[in-house]
This record gives sequence, structure tokens and C-alpha cells, in this order.
Amino acid sequence: MDTSDTFFHDATVKDGSSPVTGRHGLGGLGANYRYPRPAISLDELLTEIQAVADLPLERGKTFPAEAYTSAELLDWEVEHVLGANWICLAHISQVPKPGDFINLDVLGEPLIVVHGKDGQIRVLSRVCPHRAMDIMPPGFGYDGYGPADPREGSPGCGHTRLFLCPYHHWSFELDGSLKGCPEMQKAEGFCRDETGLKSFRSEVWNGFVFLNLSGDATPVAEQYAELGKDIAGWDPANLTVVIAKEWDCPFNWKVLVENFMEGYHHLGAHCKTLQVFMPAKNTWTEAERAHSMRVNLPYKDSVTADPEVDFATISTLPPDQLHQMAVYLGQPSFLLFNGPDRLFWYRIDPISPDRSRLLTTCLLSESALADPEFEKKLAMAETQMIAFHLEDMEVCTAVQRGFYAKGYQRGRLSHLEMPIWLFQRYLAARARGTYPTLDRPAAPSQK
Ligand code: FES
Ligand SMILES: [Fe+2]
Repeated sequence: MDTSDTFFHDATVKDGSSPVTGRHGLGGLGANYRYPRPAISLDELLTEIQAVADLPLERGKTFPAEAYTSAELLDWEVEHVLGANWICLAHISQVPKPGDFINLDVLGEPLIVVHGKDGQIRVLSRVCPHRAMDIMPPGFGYDGYGPADPREGSPGCGHTRLFLCPYHHWSFELDGSLKGCPEMQKAEGFCRDETGLKSFRSEVWNGFVFLNLSGDATPVAEQYAELGKDIAGWDPANLTVVIAKEWDCPFNWKVLVENFMEGYHHLGAHCKTLQVFMPAKNTWTEAERAHSMRVNLPYKDSVTADPEVDFATISTLPPDQLHQMAVYLGQPSFLLFNGPDRLFWYRIDPISPDRSRLLTTCLLSESALADPEFEKKLAMAETQMIAFHLEDMEVCTAVQRGFYAKGYQRGRLSHLEMPIWLFQRYLAARARGTYPTLDRPAAPSQK
């Protein structure tokens, strides 16, 4: 059996389920007895997070295990970190035409990202204003019933002229307003104009569609001004999502963020893949910023582009980006990394302290799409992307199991794990209430 089936499914898999077992029979979290950790209150945990973040990097250490297992902390993060900020939901290339939409769930909210007839991209709730039905529950449209056509190629994508609730057939325009509601003429005082799908605050920045549930986050362009400069050479608004894979992750969302951002684990987890051309020891982190982070992963000198595998280098890249990859975090969960011919974007959504839903995507430029060898190179890119991500899935899964073990010990950080330390400082600033300003002098660049 193809081992990749154990963790992910893509748009062609209709049942939405995926078992959670590793290549080496690690099993899911449920396979192990869980040592009942001594209770630690949310206040104690937040105090300890701040204490850890107060340490200089040279004395840096990991969080207590409860930071990755506590339901109370996750509730706090959803309210004060994730829900209070911008969450990237989609890229505009996934909804290129009016009527195109993406159906997704984030932080427990059933949502639709929809391209309206007026050209606006909106984020609407899928919760019907009649009796709370999800207007496009899992499996929608696959039986050929209803107005929405699913589109192959990206999870949850489709096209429609209107939204129809399958329960009592109320219908809605693409902007969420009520279009039809049968047999409601005797409902006294019922006001059609005041009834519709709830619309959430959203912004499109560099082609990415962001949601802010609290409604009061600083505009995306302001928060990610430095990140915008970092990725400008890729012209992200004109890229196209060509690969999108959903993964069922048996670990805390912060495990993924921490793993994604540090290059130290190339040494072990990616010893046969990424380490070969981007050795851990060469990775370095740029100066601390309030809202984003950048880590550079230089290629070995001997590495050259392979025209059989790589697409042409994007012509507008700055010289310092031509012989390396870089990873970025738009705080708190907007994850990007890029190489000279492509950009990857990851969306992580917590479901519980030890379970998350992950979307991994690859975006390419117009010149790559026009490559005569496009199909062949895309297939290779997909195989490679799955291979190195499976390596990450295995370590992240096993790390989460460690958090439940009596043998768990707080570890010390390498200087190559500066991104973990910066992420700790960001969370601590949130806990202290000093965010969005850095609550101490910015840490300098490692180069
Ligand atoms: S719940 Fe949607 S029409 Fe009744
Ligand atoms: Fe990795």
C-alpha cells in the first residue's frame, strides 16, 4: 500500500476520512496508554510560557508538555492568538471566477470562501440562518444533487450560481443574502432582508484570503509589511495553486509550526532528503519582528538547478534568494516557504490539543505552467512534496506521544532553533498583553 494514504487525502477522496498510522506502525495517539499528567492551571501554564520566553536563546528550553496537551490553553489560543488575528484560508487561484467557492472548516466555524458576482471575495458562514443546518455538509454535491458542482484539483472547491440549504431549501445569493425561503409567508414579522448567511471580516493580501474572527485585527498589509517584501519577488497574487493535499495530523498545531520553522531537524528527519542539499548547520534566522519571521536555508555550493526536475527560476527574485530556500511565519499560523521556482503555503487548523487539520499546497508561476514538461515536473514535485512531508508527519506524531509520557523532560534549544524561541516570545507577548509591540528589544539576525 502507498504509505502516503495513511496521513492524507486529496480532493479525489470523497469520504473525508483518513486513518492515522505511521509508516513504521507508530499508530495513532489512541494506541497508547496516556499517563494522566498532574493538573496545571491555565494561569500557571501562561506564567511558565512567559518565564521560558524570558530566557536568552543561549539558555532557551522547551515548553512544558501541557502546552501541547491542555484543552484550556487551546481555548485561550483560539480566543487570544488564532481567532484574534488573521488566518489564511485560501489563495485566489483556487476561486478564480465568480461562483467559485471553497468549503472549509476553521476553528470550528463551517465556512465558505466565495468569489461573488461583483468580483468580491467573501468569507461566509455555512450555518443556515433557519435552523443551523450546514448548507454544504461533507460530501455535498457528490451525488449530483443541488446547484453546486465540486471541482477536482483542490479540497472542498466547487462552483455554483447560488447556495441551497439541503434541509428546507432556503437559498442564498453568493453574497450570503437570502434569495428564497419556501412557505414562510405566514411567519409574522419575518424580515427576508435581515436574514442571510453571516459574513466574516476578510482581506485579500498578495493573493491570499485571510479571515479575522474577532473583527479587530490590524490590517493584513500593515502586519505583514516585512513579509510582503520578503516574498514580493514571487508575485504571489499571480501564482496558481497546483497541488493541494489535506493531512489528518495527530499533534498540536504548535508542533507543526515549530517543526516547519526550524532547519535543525534536517539533520535527522530529512537526512536523506532536505539535509542533502540544505544542511541544517547553514540555516539562519533573521532579526526578530512583531508579526512575522524569516529563516534562510542556503543550498550547498555544489547544488545546481536540474532542468529535468526544476521549473525556470522566477525572473524577479532578488539575488540573495537564488541559491536557497526560505521559510516564513506570518504570526501566528501563516506558513510559507519558497525556492527559486516555487512557493509552498501550509494552513494548519487545530481541532483539539492533539489533533489538527493541515493543508499543504504548492504554487507555481505562469512561466512554470507554460513549461512544455509541466505535467512531468509537476508529478515529480508532488512526489517530492509528499515524501519530505511524510518525514515531518512521523516526527510530529511521535513528538506528541512524548508529551503524554511520564518520561517527558524539558529540553534545551540549539541556536538553530531560534525560530522556536521567537515563537515562544510571540506567545508570551500575547499572554502578557503587550502584543503587538515586542515586549523587549528585538533579537538580532544570526547573520
Ligand atoms: S435549516 Fe436551512 S432551510 Fe432549514
Ligand atoms: Fe521538516
